[in-house]
Amino acid sequence: ADIINIGGKQKVAAQIAEKVKDGDVLGIGSGSTVYLALLAIADRIKNEKLNIKGIPTSLEISMFCSKLGIPLTTLFENKPDWLFDGADEVDPNKSLIKGRGGAMFKEKLLISCSPVNYIIVDESKIVDKLGTNFPVPIEIFPQSLLYVEQELKQLGATNILLRPAKGKDGPIISENNNLILDCKFNDIDSNMEKNIKGITGVIESGLFIGYNVNILEAENK
Ligand code: A5P
Repeated sequence: ADIINIGGKQKVAAQIAEKVKDGDVLGIGSGSTVYLALLAIADRIKNEKLNIKGIPTSLEISMFCSKLGIPLTTLFENKPDWLFDGADEVDPNKSLIKGRGGAMFKEKLLISCSPVNYIIVDESKIVDKLGTNFPVPIEIFPQSLLYVEQELKQLGATNILLRPAKGKDGPIISENNNLILDCKFNDIDSNMEKNIKGITGVIESGLFIGYNVNILEAENK
């Protein structure tokens, strides 16, 4: 939606497309930045008849890939050679908050499987401290709601919002049939990701602390 950033992001999207080699299996994250990179990759596939496969992290991205003629595979059959994705926040240690789009579980699964990872962001995503602009999204098993809320408060959550659905009454249901809580924490330390995951009922959080990622920052121009 931010027109000022599009030029910069498009440049980085083209850089991502240049990394694609014939035969690659690509992990494909979610969000608008990933979409820009997919457009550039689809052009290369068409022009150079490249034989690549993608492993998508969301229904949205699967549908884009199909529309763009990018063949898909799954983690049952293949492992990604490398992956690209966006993020909501990046701190100086290259730790991330992801999951504005609700896809953090599959995004984290793929990042964990992939040996090389590129995260594309613009300057607006760079923060000194995680949690500055975005809450931490947490995907939970529906019946665990009250228990998980209680435990998250123990971990220092100051505000917990059950993410509402759009165009439907009630909460959003994730692609894995779960609920999503958006949680504000005053302080996110290096153990927070593990502590959140340690709560029974939590499927995954959007905190990515200490993952092996390369940050590609698009210029805001
Ligand atoms: C999807 O669940 C998110 O993790 C996205 O990767 C993140 O929100 C970045 O999205 P944009 O590229 O649209 O900013």
